[in-house]
Amino acid sequence: MESLDQLVQEALEEFRRVKDPDSLERAKARYLGRAGILTGLLKTLGRLPPEERPVAGARINQAKQRLEEALARTREALAWRTLEERLASEALDVSLPGRGQGVGGLHPVTRTLARIEALFASIGFEIASGPEIETDYYNFTALNIPEGHPARAMHDTFYVEGGLLLRTHTSPIQIRYMERHTPPVKIIAPGKVYRVDSDATHSPMFHQVEGLWIDRHITFADLKGVVADFLARFFERDTLRIRFRPSFFPFTEPSAEIDMSFGEGWLELGGCGMVHPNVLKFVDIDAERYQGFAFGLGVERLAMLRYGVNDIRAFFENDMRFLKQFN
Ligand code: PHE
Repeated sequence: MESLDQLVQEALEEFRRVKDPDSLERAKARYLGRAGILTGLLKTLGRLPPEERPVAGARINQAKQRLEEALARTREALAWRTLEERLASEALDVSLPGRGQGVGGLHPVTRTLARIEALFASIGFEIASGPEIETDYYNFTALNIPEGHPARAMHDTFYVEGGLLLRTHTSPIQIRYMERHTPPVKIIAPGKVYRVDSDATHSPMFHQVEGLWIDRHITFADLKGVVADFLARFFERDTLRIRFRPSFFPFTEPSAEIDMSFGEGWLELGGCGMVHPNVLKFVDIDAERYQGFAFGLGVERLAMLRYGVNDIRAFFENDMRFLKQFN
């Protein structure tokens, strides 16, 4: 009986040191289990003289109860500690910024094309398109550039298999459209074009927008008015000046280069002219009854001037820092 108190102290001490539920259950078995020390003591009661048994029994039961209570407290403490550890390991900092939804934006060339299309649509132009892989006939011959014509060499053409080529301008769309439509024809045709050329102002792939208006009485004055009006609306600048500089294209006569100025110096935007009678002949339009104008503008050139970009390659490098500025 003297060792009982010591035993209880030992057990309590052990419970206190325990770090996890499993060790606690093992400690419990050692004292209170079926083969446990206290259980063993209870079994020895029978060997005591009968008058001592009640006191001894009561003391052992008391000790047992103390241990049971200590066990319950330790269990609870362990459960708390486990929970707290889990909460700490799973902790979220709810004040951190979230991942957020990235908002996409249109590519500056796409925006420019949309703007061009909207402006021409507002004055009655239809939007037409054609293939980027073309035949020699549509890209050259039907545009009054016969085989061996020096203008072919100027186009720096990418040739592909099967005698085909990547269109060097959007003008073949004129031919394809007039083959299928009778005048009046009033279209713009935006699209990608390709040339063997690459530096700060030339990209091997770039965009043009072709314009074509064929009717009974379309004149060079209409050409000038349409182009000047478009540019004024596109750039929204009062200081804009436009110049038509005499030039040459096999498919227009007379021909001109369209130049523009914000103040100092002139910038070339594209070519234009009155559609050559030979071109109308190729598409079976009576050149005695119908006439009209065509123009071809460089879309990146327009975008560079509008947004103040000085290297055309910036449009095609896909640098997000550049592209994000147009969102
Ligand atoms: N197709 C010509 C070019 O790419 C531009 C142009 C189009 C000129 C229409 C006159 C008329 O250089």
